Amino acid sequence: MVRTLETILAIASLVVATEMVFGAEAEFVQENCASCHALTEPDFEALGIEARAERKAPPLYYAGDKYRRDWLVEWLQAPERIRPAGVYPPAHISSSPDGDEIDEASLPTHVVLDQSQAERVADYLSSLRPYQERIDSVTYEPGSISWRMGQMNFVKFNNCIGCHQDEPGYGGVSGPELHTAWDRLRPEFIFSYTKDPVSWDPHTMMPGGDLNDGAVEKLANYLKAVSEEAE
Ligand code: HEC
Ligand code: HEC
Repeated sequence: MVRTLETILAIASLVVATEMVFGAEAEFVQENCASCHALTEPDFEALGIEARAERKAPPLYYAGDKYRRDWLVEWLQAPERIRPAGVYPPAHISSSPDGDEIDEASLPTHVVLDQSQAERVADYLSSLRPYQERIDSVTYEPGSISWRMGQMNFVKFNNCIGCHQDEPGYGGVSGPELHTAWDRLRPEFIFSYTKDPVSWDPHTMMPGGDLNDGAVEKLANYLKAVSEEAE
C-alpha cells in the first residue's frame, strides 16, 4: 500500500495526540495487556499464517472500530468466556469416542480490572480507530427480521452455526459466541466483518467474502434479534 507523505504525517500526528491524551492509559495497557494482545498492526506477511496458531488473544489495535465502549467497561470488570474453545481451538480440543471435547482446564481465565481502570482503558481502547473510514463507509441500517427467517439464514443457508453459537451451548465452538455479539460489537463492525473477514484480519480462521449486502444485513439483524431476546 502506498501512502502519501501527507497521510503519513496525519497518522503520525494522530498517534502523538492520542499518546498525549491517554499517556497513562496507553502505558497501563502496554504493561498489562501487550503480552497477549496485539496493540499495533502485526506484519502479517512477514509472520506467515503459521503465526495464527501462536496467537494468545484477539487483536486490540482496532478496538475502537470493533467494540461498543459500554460493553468494554462491563466486560473488563467481569470477563466471561467468548470463545468456547479458546483463541486457537485446535489447541484446546481433543477427540474422544463421544466426539470432540474441550479441555476446559487449558483455557486461561482473564485479568479483571476495577471500575476506574475499566473506564479509562475502555476510553483509551475506543480511541484506537485505524479503520474508521471503513466503518464510516458501512451503510447498514439495523432492522428487524422474523425469528424463523433469521435462523434459516444463520443455520441453513450460511452455516454460521457450524462455528458460532447463537444461544449459550448451542452451535459450533471454533468461533466466538455470537449470542452477545450485538451487545459487544458495533453494528457496522458486525456487517463489515461478516462481509469481508480477511480485510480485518489476514490470518482470520473465518472463511468468507462471498455474501452480498442483503444476505449480510439479514444475518446482522438476526444477531440483533438474538441479543435482544436474551435481555
Ligand atoms: C494472559 C493473556 C492476556 C492478558 C495479559 C490480557 N488478555 Fe485480554 N484476552 C485474552 C484472551 C485469551 C481473550 C479471549 C477470551 C475469550 O474469547 O473468551 C481475551 C479477550 C479480551 C477482550 C475481548 C476481545 C474479543 O474480541 O473478544 C478484551 C476487550 C480484552 N481481552 C482486553 C484486555 C485488556 C484491556 C488487558 C490488559 C488490562 C488484557 N486483555 C490482558 C488474554 C489476555
Ligand atoms: C469455519 C468456521 C466459521 C464459519 C462457517 C463462520 N465463522 Fe464467523 N468467525 C469464525 C472465527 C474463527 C472467528 C474469529 C476469527 C479468528 O479468531 O480467526 C469468526 C469471527 C466472526 C465475527 C467477529 C466476532 C468477534 O467477536 O470477533 C462475526 C461477526 C462472525 N464471525 C460472523 C459470522 C457469520 C454471520 C457467519 C455465517 C455467514 C460466520 N461467521 C461463519 C469462524 C467461522
